[in-house]
Amino acid sequence: MAGTAFRYLSQEDVVAAGGLDMAAIVDVIERAFRVKAEGQVFMPPKVMITWSDEPGTEEKHGRIMAMPAYVGGEFDVAGLKWIPSVPDNPARRGLPRANALVLLSDRETGLPLAVMDGTVVSAMRTGAVTGVAVRHLAAGDERRACLLGAGVLAHTQLDALRVVMPALERVDVYDPDRERAQRFCSRQADATGLDMRSADTAEAAVRGAQVVVPATMSVQPTFDPDWLDEGVTVVLVSSLDGPVSLHAATDLLVVDDWVHESTHDGRYAERLVRGGVVPADGSQAVELSDVVAGRHPGRTSPQQRIVVSPVGLAMDDITAAKHVLDNAVRLGIGTELRLRSGSPVWE
Ligand SMILES: NC(=O)c1ccc[n+]([C@@H]2O[C@H](COP(=O)([O-])OP(=O)(O)OC[C@H]3O[C@@H](n4cnc5c(N)ncnc54)[C@H](O)[C@@H]3O)[C@@H](O)[C@H]2O)c1
Repeated sequence: MAGTAFRYLSQEDVVAAGGLDMAAIVDVIERAFRVKAEGQVFMPPKVMITWSDEPGTEEKHGRIMAMPAYVGGEFDVAGLKWIPSVPDNPARRGLPRANALVLLSDRETGLPLAVMDGTVVSAMRTGAVTGVAVRHLAAGDERRACLLGAGVLAHTQLDALRVVMPALERVDVYDPDRERAQRFCSRQADATGLDMRSADTAEAAVRGAQVVVPATMSVQPTFDPDWLDEGVTVVLVSSLDGPVSLHAATDLLVVDDWVHESTHDGRYAERLVRGGVVPADGSQAVELSDVVAGRHPGRTSPQQRIVVSPVGLAMDDITAAKHVLDNAVRLGIGTELRLRSGSPVWE
C-alpha cells in the first residue's frame, strides 16, 4: 500500500494475523523491554477521562484512556491505544469490559500505517507482560498457579503462564461470580488439559500457589499477604488487589515503569507512595526492563517473595500491534483505507 493508504484490521483480521499467538507476543514484549532498557521508548503519561474523582472510580464507573508511545530500536513505530473500560458491559450487555482501537503511525512521514481492533492486542499484551515477568522472576519449576478473577484477562494470563511455566499442572481460580469461574475452568481444562479448579474462596485459591495473578474488578484487596508461600511470584494485573501491607511481607518490588505505575491513581505502587511506605523516587523498586536486560539480578533465592506490579504501558500495545501489522502485510490480511485519494487540500 503506497501514498496515503493504510491498513484496517478488524478483530478477525488481528486473529488471522497471529494476534492470539501468545508465545510470539511474549517474545515481542520481551524485546520491547530490552528497547526500553536502552532508553529508546518515549511514552508520555496516559490521558484518562473519568466520570468521578471517588476512589476506585475506574473499577466502579469505568473510564476512557488514551495511551501514546514511540518505540525505537527494531520497532521504530509510533502509536496510540484508545481504550474505554465499561465495568457493567459483561453482565448487562454481554460485551467485553474493554473495547479498544490501536492506531499506528510512520515516524518519518507521520502518515497512518494502520488502524486495528485493540481489544485482542490489549488483552494479549497484558498476558505477555506477566509472561515476561514470570519468565525472569519466578524460580522456573513452578507447578501451581492461582488466578483471581475469571474475566477476559484471565484467559490471556493463563495463556502466558502456559508459555513460560513448562511444569505448570494445576491452576486454582477464584471469582465471586462462581458460574463465570466454573465456565472458565471447564473451557480451559478442555483446551489445555490442565487441572483447573474453581475455588470456594480466594484464600483456598491463593494458599499453596507459586504464582498468583489477580486480574479482577475488585475495589478492595482480594488477598491477605499471610496466605502467600515462600518463593511466590505475585503479578498485580489489576490495581486494588494488593494491600499496602503486602510490601512489608515481600522481598522485591518490580514495576514495568516506575513513573507510570506510581502516578496512576489506585495502582499498588501509587498507594505505597501515597501511604508513605516507599519513597516517590522509585529507589525501592526495580524496573522490569532492568531485569530483562540483566542490569538487575531479579530473584536471588528460591525463598524470596516477589511482587510485580505492571500498570500496562502503551509500548506493549504499540509493539504487539506492530507485530500483528507486519504479519498482516506479509499474509495480505486487512482492508485498504485511504486518508485521502487526491492531492492534499493545502500544501
Ligand atoms: N495492568 C494492565 O496492564 C491491565 C491491562 C488490562 C486490564 N487490566 C485490569 O485487569 C482487570 C480485569 O480485566 P477483565 O477485562 O478481565 O475484566 P472483566 O470484567 O472481564 O473480569 C473481571 C472479573 O473480576 C471478578 N471479580 C470482582 N471482584 C473480585 C474479587 N474480589 N475476587 C476475584 N474476582 C473478582 C469479576 O466477577 C469479573 O468476573 C481490570 O481491573 C483491568 O483494569 C490491567
